[in-house]
Amino acid sequence: MLSYQHAYHAGNLADLHKHALLASMLDYLTAKPKPLSYLETHAGRGLYDLSGPESARTGEADAGITRALAQDWLPAGHPLRQALDQIRALHGPQAYPGSPLIARHFLRPEDEAHLAELHPAEHDALARVAGFAHLHRQDGFQMANALCPPTPRRGLLLIDPSYEVKADYASVPRHIAKLARKWNVGVIALWYPLLLDDRQRPMVQALLRDHPEALLSEVRFPPARPGHGMVGSGMFVINPPWGVEDEAGRLGELYARL
Ligand SMILES: C[S@@+](CC[C@H](N)C(=O)[O-])C[C@H]1O[C@@H](n2cnc3c(N)ncnc32)[C@H](O)[C@@H]1O
Repeated sequence: MLSYQHAYHAGNLADLHKHALLASMLDYLTAKPKPLSYLETHAGRGLYDLSGPESARTGEADAGITRALAQDWLPAGHPLRQALDQIRALHGPQAYPGSPLIARHFLRPEDEAHLAELHPAEHDALARVAGFAHLHRQDGFQMANALCPPTPRRGLLLIDPSYEVKADYASVPRHIAKLARKWNVGVIALWYPLLLDDRQRPMVQALLRDHPEALLSEVRFPPARPGHGMVGSGMFVINPPWGVEDEAGRLGELYARL
């Protein structure tokens, strides 16, 4: 399987929602002088070139991060803006950080990072930019299961599957229930698409039943192309750090204007 390539979608409206929330959470968690663990089950290649043929083919970044910057969705000082500015200073004005490099912007030497990426080419590309982390070329849920609860015990797990297999929607709540039991103080954040046929809804209902205190942030947007099935982006966060609810509300207002 593994035909999904995030380069076609990097910086789109879903990435912007996920990455703005991720950066806000990491900004808060790293403000305290206590080490933390950062884990990712589906890391991707870490660094994207928005002037490349993949972005040009879909135009998704133009409607996402490029328009958001033009319309001041990420004011100076916003955690994602800080990470983006740092990446662009290093890699040029069309660079866009994936979640691993957003995390790198915030992590400190005493923090531990573990990233899983199964696709061989994506894994190799990730290895070129993620020297700060332990890399795992294995199934992300297997990695998370083996590591949780991690050391240090404070921290965040990002779960960002490509949902290539329909069965993912059924298995995600089981994986998350197990991880939350093993790591009851961990921030566990799941990204999922909002689909035209609402296929994700039973998964979200199961998650809310199991974790009624979790934060749910959903935003809607026009499909990237006529007939495209994704019409929004969702983040489900167990043990949400302080402040992320405000950011979710701010993003909700911005997306509602689209
Ligand atoms: C949505 S992309 C990740 C994007 C990244 N988290 C970001 O925000 O920049 C999903 C990635 O998961 C990888 N992948 C698919 N199945 C996997 C699995 N079972 N375990 C680990 N990685 C997997 C894909 O190759 C793809 O690169």
